[in-house]
Amino acid sequence: EKGGYKHFMAKEIAEQPVVLADALRHYLPETGLNLPDDLDFSNIDRIVLIACGTAHYACAVAKYWFEEFARIPVEIDVASEFRYREPPLSKRSLAVFVSQSGETADTLAALRYCSERVAKTVAVVNVPTSSIARETDIMLPIFAGVEVGVASTKAFTAQLLVLAVMALKAGRDRGETDAATLAAHAETLRALPGLLNQALAISEPISHLAEQLAEAQDILFLGRGAMYPLALEGALKLKEISYIHAEGYASGELKHGPIALIDRTVPVIVMAPHDKLFDKTVSNMQEVMARHGMVLLISDSKGISAAQDGTWGTLHLPDIAEPFAPILYAVPAQLLAYHTAVAKGTDVDQPRNLAKSVTVE
Ligand code: M6R
Repeated sequence: EKGGYKHFMAKEIAEQPVVLADALRHYLPETGLNLPDDLDFSNIDRIVLIACGTAHYACAVAKYWFEEFARIPVEIDVASEFRYREPPLSKRSLAVFVSQSGETADTLAALRYCSERVAKTVAVVNVPTSSIARETDIMLPIFAGVEVGVASTKAFTAQLLVLAVMALKAGRDRGETDAATLAAHAETLRALPGLLNQALAISEPISHLAEQLAEAQDILFLGRGAMYPLALEGALKLKEISYIHAEGYASGELKHGPIALIDRTVPVIVMAPHDKLFDKTVSNMQEVMARHGMVLLISDSKGISAAQDGTWGTLHLPDIAEPFAPILYAVPAQLLAYHTAVAKGTDVDQPRNLAKSVTVE
């Protein structure tokens, strides 16, 4: 069942190029964007994205895309906060619920709260027969196939892909992204299966770093812009399966607190493609290195050649157009957690205290 892999998680990480190719065939065929016509962004004035855990981080990335491509205000929240604060909503809001299982109790309750209060509810789910899928107006499957590992991996990148295509449609519906830009973004998304395949090659260098990471008490992940939620996802993944305390921070927040933690025993994983914010991130890295923190820079060729001096390690990813880097950088985030957990000897697929689907509140 594990197809020659030691763990389901390893198999599911490796499946991502194929999963994304399947989702692309459906949502982004050569003929253009393929989303239901009633998923119309032109007459709404707000999007609400609700989920838990890793699915919430997919929403946090998507917020950057919807804002950039469609210039529409986006609110994100974890379902357990959203439902109890009973937020004001309007018939001009679109509410999107992202869930691998489609059975997460808090996400389902948040959906029920929204049902009569918004213009439309949309589910982005892996299980098309699930409660969340059945109770929404529009259901968008992510085509990830069964995900067994408790740590969500291929569902995350497939959720990101579907949300990216939705954001492109929102940009088109609202006339905020021109046809040439849309076509360029579609090309980048279509290149993802190949890029993810290349990215999987960093499994080996990561496995060499894992012994040392496994010794750490605390690990920090840093990212800026749409890479910030990836830092949160990297930290969650690592906590879940290696039981090492990890936190994700927006790089710019470093000096507002977490820098106090840095000493020579603290690995700081910086997820930073060479984008318009790269120079800012380099100065954050220098602050960490000045305090002898172990910086692991994950970047592309340009980023690594510009900033590798003084780092503890570097991991090299292929180039990708700026907005979609989070989909590619999910791979090292997952592999860092995986190899560190393997080095520690923990139960990768069934980590203690966690359930695959959280159907209790
Ligand atoms: O099935 P869902 O996507 O609704 O599940 C949400 C979270 O419980 C889930 O993503 C959880 O955080 C994972 N264990 C993350 O790896």
